[in-house]
Amino acid sequence: MNDYQPVREDKFTFGLWTVGWRGVNTFGEPVRPVLDAVDAVRRLSDLGAYGITFHDDDLIPPGSGASARDQILKRFRGALEDTGLAVPMVTTNLFAHPVFRDGGFTSNSRDVRRYAIRKVIRNIDLAAEMGAQTYVCWNGQDGAESEAGKDDRAQLDRLREAMNILCAYVREQGYDMRFALEPKPNEPRGDVLLPTVGHALAFINELDHPEMVGVNPEVGHEQMAGLNFAHGVAQALWHGKLYHIDLNGQRGVKFDQDLRFGAGDLREAFFLVDLLENAGYTGSRQFDFKPPRTEDMEGVWASAAGCMRNYLILREKSKAFRADPEVQAALEASRVGELSVPTLAQGESLSDLMSEELDLASAGERGYHFERLDQLALDHLMGVR
Ligand code: GCO
Ligand code: MN
Ligand code: MN
Repeated sequence: MNDYQPVREDKFTFGLWTVGWRGVNTFGEPVRPVLDAVDAVRRLSDLGAYGITFHDDDLIPPGSGASARDQILKRFRGALEDTGLAVPMVTTNLFAHPVFRDGGFTSNSRDVRRYAIRKVIRNIDLAAEMGAQTYVCWNGQDGAESEAGKDDRAQLDRLREAMNILCAYVREQGYDMRFALEPKPNEPRGDVLLPTVGHALAFINELDHPEMVGVNPEVGHEQMAGLNFAHGVAQALWHGKLYHIDLNGQRGVKFDQDLRFGAGDLREAFFLVDLLENAGYTGSRQFDFKPPRTEDMEGVWASAAGCMRNYLILREKSKAFRADPEVQAALEASRVGELSVPTLAQGESLSDLMSEELDLASAGERGYHFERLDQLALDHLMGVR
């Protein structure tokens, strides 16, 4: 029997800020102790994860002097070497300090924008040293509560300027690194800049080096806006822009719940795993969740293990779904493969198409049998097939 034990090849990664989240919320104080990064590396490795990721400030507390920084990095590197855990992605905290109350790259204050760029550049050097090939930019405080205080078009200019500066720096240094923008509709700002995958994809086209920038969609972020996450990811894949992914759970249109993967919309989680596994996505499967405040540290590790376990179960369900002969027949009956056939055949012209007649009566009567197909998917998901 499959025990759903993750292995490195599954490419599961966790942010240090996820298992290290102390459970502070808008109304409540922290409920858990500070987690030593070295313990996080060891525990994640024991659980079968492939890598760990971090914001600059998660690993090196702001204000640390040079020798404290060296000490922290030495211990962290030691733990990585001992365990073999990788650091495939690094990101920057441009949201916690009061200086970022109006954003980082797009603060109305020019001196803050300049500071934000310096903070990222310094951390890109560390990311490169750690071997990270993806750099995530989540611009959570870049947004607004009121149109009166923010010139949206200027804000997009400044975000573009910042991304162009960062791309130019990575090219100059010769780093093997790409950026991934993480959209979110709101929280902490009333409205966040680049609210959805679609907004981010359109923005990337305006950059000097669009090939260096992709997206890091997060399950809950699209679902907070009532959008279908699997559709957003499919479009990112279609554009060749799925550079990274944040997996978690969300139940409906409300605040960012960051539940463990699978604990939100399970049906959409199934179709998401089915998509990632069948579309040839080879990047990290990162879990960006917040173990609930009810949990002590034991509960945190159980929650982390649950993220991976749920992914592996859904992967197995997806395989069984695809291999089921009845599903294959149902896919055929639903004409799913026919959508991949170009509407004009090779060598055909528009006039060939124009001269054709469709029997509207019979085509109008045609049923697509999607309900039968979808029920087969649910039967697999619910474990009765
Ligand atoms: C959120 C975000 C963050 C970012 C992280 C990376 O829950 O709003 O997902 O967790 O992913 O800060 O920069
Ligand atoms: Mn989130
Ligand atoms: Mn995230």
